[in-house]
Amino acid sequence: SKYVKVKKDSCIACGSCGSAAPEIFDFDDDGLAEVIFEGDGNKGVTLIASDLLEELNDAIDSCPTSCIKTAAAPFA
Ligand code: F3S
Repeated sequence: SKYVKVKKDSCIACGSCGSAAPEIFDFDDDGLAEVIFEGDGNKGVTLIASDLLEELNDAIDSCPTSCIKTAAAPFA
């Protein structure tokens, strides 16, 4: 099980995450990536569906600044 959020202060808006996992990531109004899965709002409190974990891992691997953070439990 995985929870995910973007550490936005490290995001350079390269867009790789949204290309790899469009159901999980999109750009916010400032042009930075955020987690949009099931309306998470980049809080990191929504469990990512297991069938999206491969896409999620691709997104994490593709991020040049390693600003996509995951955890086994919801982010506080
Ligand atoms: Fe930002 Fe990394 Fe995505 S730099 S746009 S979180 S791939």
